[in-house]
Amino acid sequence: MLILLISFFFVVLIAPKKESDQSNLLITTIITIMKRLLLFSLIAISLFSAQAQKHTLPKHLEYQALEPGLDSLSMYIHINSYHKKYVELLNKSLTGTADTGATITQLLIHSSKLSDMARNAAGGHYNHTLFWDILSPTPAAKPSELLNTEITKSFMGMDSMKVQILQAANKVFGSGWVWVIVTPEKKLKITTTINEENPLMEKHGNVRGMPILGIDLWEHAYYTKYQGNKKEYIQAVFKLLDWELISRKYSVAMESEALKQLNSSADWAAFSKFHDVMKGLVMNMGKGEMTPIKSNSANLLTLAKALESEPIPAEYATEPVKAAIKNLILACAQVNDAVVKKGTDAQIKEKFATIRDPYKVIVASLSKKEDQFSHQ
Ligand SMILES: [Fe+2]
Repeated sequence: MLILLISFFFVVLIAPKKESDQSNLLITTIITIMKRLLLFSLIAISLFSAQAQKHTLPKHLEYQALEPGLDSLSMYIHINSYHKKYVELLNKSLTGTADTGATITQLLIHSSKLSDMARNAAGGHYNHTLFWDILSPTPAAKPSELLNTEITKSFMGMDSMKVQILQAANKVFGSGWVWVIVTPEKKLKITTTINEENPLMEKHGNVRGMPILGIDLWEHAYYTKYQGNKKEYIQAVFKLLDWELISRKYSVAMESEALKQLNSSADWAAFSKFHDVMKGLVMNMGKGEMTPIKSNSANLLTLAKALESEPIPAEYATEPVKAAIKNLILACAQVNDAVVKKGTDAQIKEKFATIRDPYKVIVASLSKKEDQFSHQ
């Protein structure tokens, strides 16, 4: 900034005004240098501003552009009272944090590291931006051949997909969103989230993926025109969906780095469930309490079997992990057997100790992945 001010002083205020001044070689040289410094400073400032760029409300259609499907009053309230507020809250909650320069997609993929306010605001901003993106007053009615093929494969066609979207939306109790996403396995799926959660987020409760279509199910999106008739509102949205824009999102999603990252950080839900129960049992046995293992041995065995029967995220599905799962099931079966046969506490403890080694193999593979991910 100091360089900028000095440069400005030289270039603008004491620049030679008369022809005779230009003969002064020293002043001319200084001015030339200062001009360069001024240019350099302006470039540096613009680069710095770009890096610390704040999230902004995207350009939107005229409020009445989507009439009669979406009325202008609803659109005005939606953009100015909701979306705008999410953007403001997001910028406020990120100020002074390491996430200031992160893209909205990266914020969502690693959302568990954010504060509640930042996470909700990031979801709200992303969700609404996508919603406005795929609506058009003159929508293209057909998806690309590539997307159409995938829709047929996944949902038996466009009409059937719309029925399934409606069914999923009806199951959302209260505020939320219904989505069509590309999963890390590059399949199309319909999913829903509550409030301003989003399929990119960790642990939102449903399958993760890159959204290519999202419909706002909050009452603020439709109550003014449709009151409680969510179905009629969604059918109106269907007529405004631009399938050319959605097809573009599909192509981008299929090749996106974000999708690869979702795959790398995929939750292993079955192991999380096993781990939660196991953690409690280890703690209790450490205190000499045997009742929890006696009442949970069958449950622990069921959870261990689920590790084998449910899909293992690709990055964890190594041969040592698969072998450890088999040993884990065997060990849990022996613990359950000892409990069922009313073995002594010492016998149950002895069998329980055999769970430790295969369990450690699996935990070690997870830690390794976690470390790799955190260094990306
Ligand atoms: Fe909304």
